[in-house]
Amino acid sequence: MGQTVLRGEQIYSGYGKLQVINGIDIYIDEGELVTIIGPNGSGKSTLIRTMIGLVELFNGHVYIRGKEVSGMKPHEIIEAGIPLGYVPQLANVFPSLTIEENLKMGLFVKKWDEYYQQRTEEMFKLFPILEERIKQKASLLSGGERQMLALARALMPSPEVLILDEPTAALAPNLAEDMLQLVVSLKKELNISILLVEQRAKRSMELSDRGYVLVTGEIAAEGPANELLAEDRIRKLYLGVRDR
Ligand SMILES: Nc1ncnc2c1ncn2[C@@H]1O[C@H](COP(=O)(O)OP(=O)(O)OP(=O)(O)O)[C@@H](O)[C@H]1O
Ligand SMILES: [Mg+2]
Repeated sequence: MGQTVLRGEQIYSGYGKLQVINGIDIYIDEGELVTIIGPNGSGKSTLIRTMIGLVELFNGHVYIRGKEVSGMKPHEIIEAGIPLGYVPQLANVFPSLTIEENLKMGLFVKKWDEYYQQRTEEMFKLFPILEERIKQKASLLSGGERQMLALARALMPSPEVLILDEPTAALAPNLAEDMLQLVVSLKKELNISILLVEQRAKRSMELSDRGYVLVTGEIAAEGPANELLAEDRIRKLYLGVRDR
């Protein structure tokens, strides 16, 4: 594996007086697909949102591509030229804007007119549906199509690191599998590193290089995905497997 693109060291974070993340160490190496699983409310979203400055860091350090970003606000991270893409839990598109306008929003820090043509052509290859409907309002898209638009928007500035918070939430099972396959192909074709939070624990672990199990704001298990998948205790407790 290459160098570490994202690292959190002894992260403590939360909301006001409520501490949610209790001392977590996490890293993603170049070219890796890393999945975080864990029960509802265990702090998965809080952890990734802390690393990109959306939740207050109480203590600890965050590095993106070796540069310390601890305590920086998201716009400061972007302004520092750090190539990061983030798709929040529950597809976040601007419903009253068209597909085209939503994609341009993804480039808001770069001069979009220079990049737009080239980047949208790339996005249309990945998501043909967006090209067909480019002039339509995003509110007319289905849940799955909105998720694709949110993903395409995050990819517009060519990020090297992509953080996805439950991209399959609210998708029918066959679409969820398509989305996970797409995530794997993004990693391969665009050569980006991906941090994925997933409720579909077993399936996403099968597709990942490494994984973390988060329980009440702490890492309960971590390691190569195939090792986590092989461990009985983890299969039963966190991967929803009942067959052994
Ligand atoms: N904005 C907020 N203000 C206060 N508490 C919050 C806020 N967001 C989340 N929490 C609390 O932090 C804890 C962790 O929530 P978080 O959303 O990180 O969990 P999660 O693992 O992502 O859960 P899920 O699988 O349901 O998405 C929960 O107890 C939640 O109530
Ligand atoms: Mg969450």
